[in-house]
Amino acid sequence: MAAGVQRQYASRIEGMTSFKVVDFLEAAVKMEAQGRDIVRMEAGEPAFPTAPAILEAASTALRDEKTFYTPSLGIIELREAIAAFYDSRYGLKIPAQRIVVTTGSSAALGLICDLIINPGDGLQLTDPGYPCNANFVRRAGGEPQLIPVDAHNAYQLTPEAVANHWQDNTVGVLVASPSNPTGEMLSHENQRGINTVVASHNGVLIMDELYHGLVYDQPESSILEINPDAMVINSFSKYFGMTGWRLGWMVVPEDALEAVNIMAQNFYISPPSIAQYAALGAFQPATLEIMETRRGEFRQRRDYLVPALRELGFSIPHTPAGAFYIYAGIEKLAGDSEAFCWDMLERAGVAFTPGTDFGEHLARQHVRFSYTQPMDRLELAIERLGKALAS
Ligand SMILES: Cc1ncc(COP(=O)(O)O)c(C=O)c1O
Repeated sequence: MAAGVQRQYASRIEGMTSFKVVDFLEAAVKMEAQGRDIVRMEAGEPAFPTAPAILEAASTALRDEKTFYTPSLGIIELREAIAAFYDSRYGLKIPAQRIVVTTGSSAALGLICDLIINPGDGLQLTDPGYPCNANFVRRAGGEPQLIPVDAHNAYQLTPEAVANHWQDNTVGVLVASPSNPTGEMLSHENQRGINTVVASHNGVLIMDELYHGLVYDQPESSILEINPDAMVINSFSKYFGMTGWRLGWMVVPEDALEAVNIMAQNFYISPPSIAQYAALGAFQPATLEIMETRRGEFRQRRDYLVPALRELGFSIPHTPAGAFYIYAGIEKLAGDSEAFCWDMLERAGVAFTPGTDFGEHLARQHVRFSYTQPMDRLELAIERLGKALAS
């Protein structure tokens, strides 16, 4: 191809939206490289180091040369360890065969969309919601059917909303609880109600439980308690703080296993070997103790930030139940979330994400703060934002 000639790439790329948080992340990194101190509240990854037992399990695997492809659905020891975790956390007996280990939950989301969506089919998603979901749907040739949610319903779907938005081409619903970007959860009652609506249409209920373990004031229950055939997405990224190890899992009904296995074999061959052996260390009592201490720390940060941000003029009608996000209204402070985030990055040295990354509904009136940094950094962020907003 001659230099300077622009190649025409596949049309499926055109409909895909970019991940704006990365724009802010890159700008923050660039400013840091130029010597500016930036409080990083834009990215969704815990800043804690990998737990010692996970590192130890990884070094043992390296020493033992566990560096080869594994079975496509994951090593059986890990699938069994995840099954045992469902038993101890939720009292649920899930056969290890139904647990599929994936390259991050991102791969699981892609596989599920490829599994259930025919070209032209619709999948219901929340707006705001995790932005990549709509792109997985588009990649499968489907139509993301975005349902606006707001503070009145804790930014979550209701059975009525699912029923009212169900269209002839809808094949299912994907919900995250707790959600990114709002940290809000579906009540048990609404999980039940949505499950009933989806079942009445013979649809598929996909529940993203990625932020389970990071819930602060209430017990958490898996959708599998209500519907053993729901598709569940989870990951080692958030509660276990293993983002860069790229390891997630999904629980799928038995009749989906053959198709999932064929796709996994073809598309990825296997999840990363060392990461799988490392993840065996995640379920050791010492690691779980560390994760529970971290849960307490996240809760403390949330309980500090919510009133502090309200004091600065951000509107947070409801304290988020989990994850490490606060989705805050800026209507009293600015008219456009993107301009506001760039302004605060520049003037206050605090990086956070505009609502436009997560959908369209009231997106210019909201921003997302991620509280993955230690308390002293969050206090500095509040101090800096206070000064910048007053000037
Ligand atoms: C709701 C939600 N689902 C899925 C993912 C993908 O995470 P990973 O691929 O690291 O498991 C994320 C990442 O931020 C998320 O917030």
